[in-house]
Amino acid sequence: MIIPYKTDRDILDLHKGDLKRLSNKIHKEGVAVFHDQDLNEEQLITVQKQFGICEAPDLFMNPKEYPEIFLVTGKKDEDGNKLGMFGDTELGWHSNGNSRHNIDKILISLYCVNEDVNTTLSVCNTTKPFYDLTEDDQEYWKSITVRLKFQNNTIYDLEENDPELEFMSKNKGSIRKLVGQHPHTGEYYFYFPYHFITKAWEGTTPIDHNEMIEKLKPIIFRSKYQYHHVFKEGDLLMMDQFTSLHRRTPIMDNNRLLWRLASDFSKIYE
Ligand SMILES: [Fe+2]
Repeated sequence: MIIPYKTDRDILDLHKGDLKRLSNKIHKEGVAVFHDQDLNEEQLITVQKQFGICEAPDLFMNPKEYPEIFLVTGKKDEDGNKLGMFGDTELGWHSNGNSRHNIDKILISLYCVNEDVNTTLSVCNTTKPFYDLTEDDQEYWKSITVRLKFQNNTIYDLEENDPELEFMSKNKGSIRKLVGQHPHTGEYYFYFPYHFITKAWEGTTPIDHNEMIEKLKPIIFRSKYQYHHVFKEGDLLMMDQFTSLHRRTPIMDNNRLLWRLASDFSKIYE
């Protein structure tokens, strides 16, 4: 099991040097956890903006007054419309922006407003499995290129009329190396949100991507690379979207509410 940096320290008390050290821990382990925080929307946005530039796409799950916050909840309004993203079903392994061409918002924060003790978020580090391989295997996986595109009924199932389906499908996808090099640490990591992988090549030769996925799953998804978290109110999780993947079990209590923010690390490394 990976051991994330865990603390009860008030995140609002951290200064520039602390944030840089914290960022390094997030890159390295994939995740850091702050317990017993007492943050309102504004404070949480201020924290995230100390790291970098935030996403604020003005979609249905972004409150108008706090456009940087994404509501993550299974709750619906009186007309049955979704209030948040990701619904209440199980979510398969993924990271932020898997179907996008440019991924730069690699810091995801999840802050628990209303807990559901029967739902678990799992995080898998994607750097450690690479360094546990032989040099030959490392070279082999570095020669692989993958094509990524969102496909419905893989990481989750969306109904035809779901507003989330429209913007998830809009992304054209991307072609990239299976093994990336982290922009801030230089370390290698597997980029393996496999539900999105639709093609693969070894060098320039096409290979069977499903076979490749099955071969890689037991290499990456080992218990020693994972961390499991049951959110309590006031928990703040911060994850690096290159050096980790995450998944979630189904939501049992639709009052569960997380505030999610996404940014880059540009303020830390300017
Ligand atoms: Fe996610």
